[in-house]
Amino acid sequence: MKIIVTGGAGFIGGNFVYYELKNHPEDEIICLDKLTYAGNLETLEEAMKNPKFKFVKADIADRDAVYKLFREEKPDIVVNFAAESHVDRSIENPEIFLKTNILGTQVLMDACREFGITRYHQVSTDEVYGDLPLDRPDLFFTETTPIHTSSPYSASKASADLLVLAYHRTFKLPVSITRCSNNYGPYHFPEKLIPLIISRALADEPLPVYGKGENVRDWLYVEDHCAAIDLVMRKGRVGEVYNIGGHNEKSNLEVVKTILKQLDKPESLITYVTDRPGHDMRYAIDPTKIHDELGWLPQTKFEDGIRQTIDWYLNHKEWWQNILSGDYQNYFDKMYGERLD
Ligand code: NAD
Ligand code: DAU
Repeated sequence: MKIIVTGGAGFIGGNFVYYELKNHPEDEIICLDKLTYAGNLETLEEAMKNPKFKFVKADIADRDAVYKLFREEKPDIVVNFAAESHVDRSIENPEIFLKTNILGTQVLMDACREFGITRYHQVSTDEVYGDLPLDRPDLFFTETTPIHTSSPYSASKASADLLVLAYHRTFKLPVSITRCSNNYGPYHFPEKLIPLIISRALADEPLPVYGKGENVRDWLYVEDHCAAIDLVMRKGRVGEVYNIGGHNEKSNLEVVKTILKQLDKPESLITYVTDRPGHDMRYAIDPTKIHDELGWLPQTKFEDGIRQTIDWYLNHKEWWQNILSGDYQNYFDKMYGERLD
């Protein structure tokens, strides 16, 4: 089987490339990635040594480049991780989110129609459901929870999901969608909460916590997400949406304090900063459907996953220090400069 993995130079896509090469060594993997600020070829260094892996630099919204690749490779499965993924950046500049996340999805699905595939899989997010109140721990997102987005990022992901379902209904494209909660693990770009806190705590720098730090996220170790996507794209029902999450809700403050404790750093580093506009309060996934239909269950407990993640960042300083020393510094100064003064 030949699988095109878009966005494979990013956090989850990169982990997915390694998951596939390890668990399905018979399959060929072609990574299509534009290498935006979030894409990093160093992440794929080991994969590049595998003859079953190939990297192609291209924009998913570039129709000519995408069609050329499909014409040459004739993939069986396309799994789309490529996206602008950071909520704060979408608040600063929404346009590229619409272009990549919506139009890019359309181009990929048009190519699937033109050249024929057995499955188009869209990697989506729990953020399409909006948020839940903190005082209703009995509520969870199911696949039938109405779409109700908060940020330009989540609106762009929800738009893409609707387009994917429309291509199934109208053109009978064999699609599936997964909507996952927050991931953590190796190769996570250090603008996101967990790697940002690890890298800054190691440098004894102030740790920006939005608002009161009471917002809740449902954390899942990235390898568990990859296993779920692999199952759905191979065995999930066509035209269906599957939620992915591990019932692991933590407030941001709990997460930050856990990291500080493990790194033996003081809580005085925590600095409360102006809240994110439109900040979602709580995400919580009900993963019953994927468990009942496909037998998926998360394998990594948060206590183990966070320890492994911290160890990975300690053992791969070069990977994230290269990022921090580049363009990212300008982004950080612009985003947090005044808030941390
Ligand atoms: P990321 O930002 O780490 O990586 C995105 C990758 O996509 C990068 O390699 C980037 O170069 C590439 N890319 C961006 N625009 C592109 C374009 N126009 N053409 C080709 N490649 C392009 O993102 P991530 O955190 O790994 O998320 C991957 C996917 O999973 C996204 O679709 C995101 O919405 C979804 N998701 C993420 C999480 C999470 O917690 N990170 C949770 C649920 C769903
Ligand atoms: O739920 C899935 C989503 O999770 C994915 O769709 C997104 O691509 C991914 O980025 C992530 O979105 P979040 O906004 O939840 O992740 P982030 O790491 O940006 O923030 C996690 C929480 O931490 C959130 O409540 C905001 C807060 N935060 C974040 C940063 C960067 C802080 O308090 N301080 C910070 O500096």
